[in-house]
Amino acid sequence: MKLLKKGAEADLYQTKWQNSKAILKIRKIKNYRNSLLDLKIRKQRTIKECQMISFVKSFGIPTPLIYFVNLKTTSIMMQEIPGTPVHDLPESKIVELSKDIGKLVGTLHKNGVMHGDLTTSNFILFKKTVFVIDFGLSQNTIKSEDHAVDLRLIKEILNSAHAKIMLSSWENFLHGYKSIVGSAYYAKITKLVSDIESRGRYAEVV
Ligand SMILES: Nc1ncnc2c1ncn2[C@@H]1O[C@H](COP(=O)(O)OP(=O)(O)O)[C@@H](O)[C@H]1O
Ligand SMILES: [Mg+2]
Repeated sequence: MKLLKKGAEADLYQTKWQNSKAILKIRKIKNYRNSLLDLKIRKQRTIKECQMISFVKSFGIPTPLIYFVNLKTTSIMMQEIPGTPVHDLPESKIVELSKDIGKLVGTLHKNGVMHGDLTTSNFILFKKTVFVIDFGLSQNTIKSEDHAVDLRLIKEILNSAHAKIMLSSWENFLHGYKSIVGSAYYAKITKLVSDIESRGRYAEVV
């Protein structure tokens, strides 16, 4: 089993599941948390991630297949998407894919799902399809305030990790998003994003 990534929350291994390439995501013990609470949080996120990865497929969001879940070790065995995280793609490609990402996020929101951790590392391009991963912090919510938090986060990520292409990729993202949620909801959400920004905890990024 090859260690792929040591994350803040989980370790990811590349492995095999019945001859298919697989990813094993193990949520780690956090010693600074009370151990009962820690186990509860790890279990909750493991369950949420599997449920959501499967649920969002029903309205067409490409996600890995879940092969096996072990709640004792808070780990998930899932299909490996043998592509490239959008974060690591050339800038021109990120700009182009931002529209697809906007559509995916619009589709999640339209179906009452907030992703909760929208970074460009959580989208993987494989062939011509963008897959969405990392649903441990997702929520079932139709509240526009929650959806606005998703948008605010991805905007911040574009601004910090992809500063040079921020404006064009954000514009493309919004285009894609609007094409799915419609003009009225789009106006409402972008107003909320500005509200969050003007509250001062965040500085506006454009
Ligand atoms: N199913 C998968 N297929 C291919 N790569 C994956 C898969 N799941 C995770 N990864 C890789 O591991 C990284 C971290 O996984 P992720 O689920 O996002 O955990 P974290 O909570 O640490 O961000 C991803 O950014 C991606 O590069
Ligand atoms: Mg991630």
